[in-house]
Amino acid sequence: MAELCDAFRWCAQCWLAASWETPMTFEHIPVMVEEILSVFDGVPDGVVLDATLGGAGHAVALLERRPELSVVGLDQDDEALAAARKRLEPFGERAQAQKCRFDQLGSQLDALGHDEISGFLFDLGVSSHQIDTGERGFSYRTDGPLDMRMDQSAGRTAADVVNTVDERELADILRSYGDEKHAMRIAKAIVAARPVTTTAQLADIVRDATPARDKRRGDPSKRTFQALRIEVNQELSILEGALEAALDRLCVGGRGAVLAYHSGEDRIVKAVFRDRVDVDDHRSPVPLNNEEFALLWNGSKKPHDEENSSNRRATSARLRGIERVAVAA
Ligand SMILES: C[S@@+](CC[C@H](N)C(=O)[O-])C[C@H]1O[C@@H](n2cnc3c(N)ncnc32)[C@H](O)[C@@H]1O
Repeated sequence: MAELCDAFRWCAQCWLAASWETPMTFEHIPVMVEEILSVFDGVPDGVVLDATLGGAGHAVALLERRPELSVVGLDQDDEALAAARKRLEPFGERAQAQKCRFDQLGSQLDALGHDEISGFLFDLGVSSHQIDTGERGFSYRTDGPLDMRMDQSAGRTAADVVNTVDERELADILRSYGDEKHAMRIAKAIVAARPVTTTAQLADIVRDATPARDKRRGDPSKRTFQALRIEVNQELSILEGALEAALDRLCVGGRGAVLAYHSGEDRIVKAVFRDRVDVDDHRSPVPLNNEEFALLWNGSKKPHDEENSSNRRATSARLRGIERVAVAA
């Protein structure tokens, strides 16, 4: 586009288009693939729900490993779905990719006639493709419009949030979802600079508002971007209900795996799994095990060093697994 415009130097639209990078292909390296495949090795034949299909990296690995399984993949991102559908073509009717935010997974599975599933996978957060595509507005490293919506057809953009919520609410978002200790100071600076419309503008505001001593360890705007992304996509508020709906549909012997990349997400996963496993009996001096669900291992698993060194995104991953061992009494 830039080459086509004679007045390139003075044409704001061309300048922006040229400076907002869009990768031509869908790049995302799936995380902890072997560990996830081994979760599903023992599940009964049937349908596995991939609630966060992305570029279908995990789904393809699973379909190749277990020819008796089929996959229903959900994603709210049209670019992810287009890439996934292409990759899933060779699997024919064994693979379906549906546009759906995962808090609607129950009605989506109902519509497809799957009242029971053999497994589910949630690989939470954003894909590398979303982060690396400047135009999507997720990255503090690349300039772009302040969007951050995974589903670009619905909801508030990050620009809507930073330009409309009051200073106190903005500070709460930065504190709760970004663990930002300078939340109030940054919120004040953002409100003073309104309207804030691009990622570069926001990143500069955050850097300027952060005291020098706290700029030494990485880019300080990272935490603000994470917090806004979580707010825009309601990542934490819809997670519990979605996990409950997936657990309700697991058949006996069916298993669920969740990869979380943020402590707030992982806390929710841990609490939901624990609730299913422990019997809520306050008279008992020791926790009692529910006979319906069992954790596949205690705590969370982390990627091996080798994976961390070849895929930077893997470093914060935490994997939890659960199995339905019996039907409710
Ligand atoms: C980490 S990527 C998944 C990558 C995938 N496992 C793979 O191997 O390519 C997360 C994906 O989940 C999608 N996603 C995140 N939250 C979602 C939600 N609430 N509903 C539906 N899709 C969601 C994102 O759009 C993104 O494509």
